Amino acid sequence: MIDIKNLRKTFRSGRETFHALNGITIHVPEGEFFTLLGPSGCGKSTTLRCLAGLETPDSGTIEIGGETVFSSERGISVPAYRRDIGMVFQSYAIWPHMTVFENIAYPLKIQKVARREIRARVEKALDTVGLEGLGDRPAPALSGGQQQRVSLARALVKEPKVLLLDEPLSNLDAKLREQMRFEIKELQERLGITTLYVTHDQTEALAVSDSIAVMNQGNLLDVAGPRDIYFQPRSEFTADFIGLTNVLRGKVAGSENGLSCLDTPMGRLLCRPTSVAHHGGGEVVIFLRPEDVAVTAARPAGKPNVFEGEIEALVFLGEVVDCQIKVGEELVRARLHPKSAFQRRQKVFIEADPAALITIRAH
Ligand SMILES: Nc1ncnc2c1ncn2[C@@H]1O[C@H](COP(=O)(O)OP(=O)(O)OP(=O)(O)O)[C@@H](O)[C@H]1O
Ligand SMILES: [Mg+2]
Repeated sequence: MIDIKNLRKTFRSGRETFHALNGITIHVPEGEFFTLLGPSGCGKSTTLRCLAGLETPDSGTIEIGGETVFSSERGISVPAYRRDIGMVFQSYAIWPHMTVFENIAYPLKIQKVARREIRARVEKALDTVGLEGLGDRPAPALSGGQQQRVSLARALVKEPKVLLLDEPLSNLDAKLREQMRFEIKELQERLGITTLYVTHDQTEALAVSDSIAVMNQGNLLDVAGPRDIYFQPRSEFTADFIGLTNVLRGKVAGSENGLSCLDTPMGRLLCRPTSVAHHGGGEVVIFLRPEDVAVTAARPAGKPNVFEGEIEALVFLGEVVDCQIKVGEELVRARLHPKSAFQRRQKVFIEADPAALITIRAH
């Protein structure tokens, strides 16, 4: 449904040139919820704005629903108002001098849709986002979450092929954000609308997406479903950006009982034989998620990957205790049950299941 090929965009200010997008290629199948995830300034909004026709790329092509809306080679650039998309902006930009109804009706008025049809479609959009009966309110007389729904309804009222959402939840408080996450996902599934979603919040991306594309500095690093991107990250940036992870560097030192041996500063680790790990003598980067580190007071018997350490810090977070354990020169993060009785400076043992270690080739 959305096909972006080799999209480049530079911004010039004075003599400086800034490369915002370095050749981005994205394919979003029909009906999919696809998320661009990355830190501030990585080019997420620029990508959406190019799709919407609000920025002109330097080169590349953009197709929406089989129609080429931008092609530098063929000299095509369809204006924004003729692209079949609905967009919710990063600052959700509803008009304060209009009622809720007028805000949502606005895109249809521009298209000169008949009055009666406008009424029916706005009512339907209000229903869709759960704001039925609030059409006559002045838009500012709504809570943040309700205003957010107004901008969503305004994006949906044209019944576009594609929905673009640019950090739509960033202005909401934490509780409401979590609730809206479920609602947006449910709405998207109910309407079956192809959605390109932008966020810098990894939990949000994991919660709502069918596919996640991790971006950094104008490049697309990794594209996969939430579970794959979490369990099988293909770059150190992705592993670290999506969830917390312990990162170790090691060298492949042969194999033992069908497992690969890795020499690390912490000691020898055994991991599942992956193609990378079998790369004899090769340098690897090893990721170990804090939730995969088991911490015990007594040495676990008969298990591989057991190391002695000392608890350096414990932070109580309610649902978990975030723990740092010094093992040799390494600091290992672990997550403990909130009722665990470990103390700072306590000697402990850590253990990691070989199947929990993720390895990639070091670059
Ligand atoms: N009009 C502009 N002129 C110059 N530089 C720009 C312009 N718009 C964006 N940039 C730069 O391009 C880069 C990408 O910006 P973009 O808005 O796409 O980032 P983002 O990933 O959406 O970040 P955020 O999470 O902060 O919204 C940034 O470094 C930004 O400063
Ligand atoms: Mg942005």
